Amino acid sequence: MKFVVLMGGPGAGKGTQAKQLEEALSLPQIATGDLFREHLRNKSELGELARTFMDKGELVPDEVTVAMVKDRLSRPDCAHGALMDGFPRTVPQAEAFERLLHEMGEQVSIAPYIHVASEVLLQRLAGRWTCKTCGHVYHVLFNPPQKEGVCDLDGGELYQRDDDTEETQKRRIEVYFKQTAPLLDYYRNKGMLAEINGEQSIDQVQNDLIEAIRNSH
Ligand code: AP5
Ligand code: MG
Repeated sequence: MKFVVLMGGPGAGKGTQAKQLEEALSLPQIATGDLFREHLRNKSELGELARTFMDKGELVPDEVTVAMVKDRLSRPDCAHGALMDGFPRTVPQAEAFERLLHEMGEQVSIAPYIHVASEVLLQRLAGRWTCKTCGHVYHVLFNPPQKEGVCDLDGGELYQRDDDTEETQKRRIEVYFKQTAPLLDYYRNKGMLAEINGEQSIDQVQNDLIEAIRNSH
């Protein structure tokens, strides 16, 4: 089994890469941000709770997030592992994830860190458009769809996320450096961190990720 923890700031390309890696590695993407947004669309209680944090760019409490991930990991498509996108995001989440995997007789295989400078993160978030139906991610300048507002893959409508206002983007980057960046040392100390240059083309980042993941245990 392979459990890959994709690390990187908001806009680093975790979602973009995970969507492509799903096919290349036959592993499902587990994106906690996407799961919260799905709950929100379904108007569930969890979705409403998550919204109050997401709209401000703050993290949803650990226990809520961990319970949701535990449930997701129990589905059959995770039988060979998973690509974790945006989870764990705090040291307590990483510890809880380790315990969950331990119960399954597993551990994190690799934690690739997609490194992108803060000013580039902001440019990327500002131009992002996402498909409402399949979640594929575009950028007005760096990765535009063939037809404006329409997904190349399934013709779905493209939208801009509610938390992609300028103020919330800045806050998410701050929260990332304060609460998530300490996780880099956590995985570095365990010999699991793989640094990837995220300021290359999407395909080049993908190649570097595949190589690092294939070489992991
Ligand atoms: P989440 O949805 O995870 O948002 P995020 O971490 O802010 O990350 P993003 O999705 O914004 O960025 P990404 O790295 O996926 O970049 P993308 O591929 O889209 O979380 C949202 C919220 O949910 C959080 O704020 C929090 O409230 C809550 N939450 C989620 N998980 C949680 C957890 N574990 N605990 C607690 N709370 C949690 O790419 C960005 C843009 O760049 C796109 O337009 C793309 O086309 C472009 N791009 C990508 N790669 C390249 C490239 N190589 N070159 C040029 N452009 C590129
Ligand atoms: Mg994402």
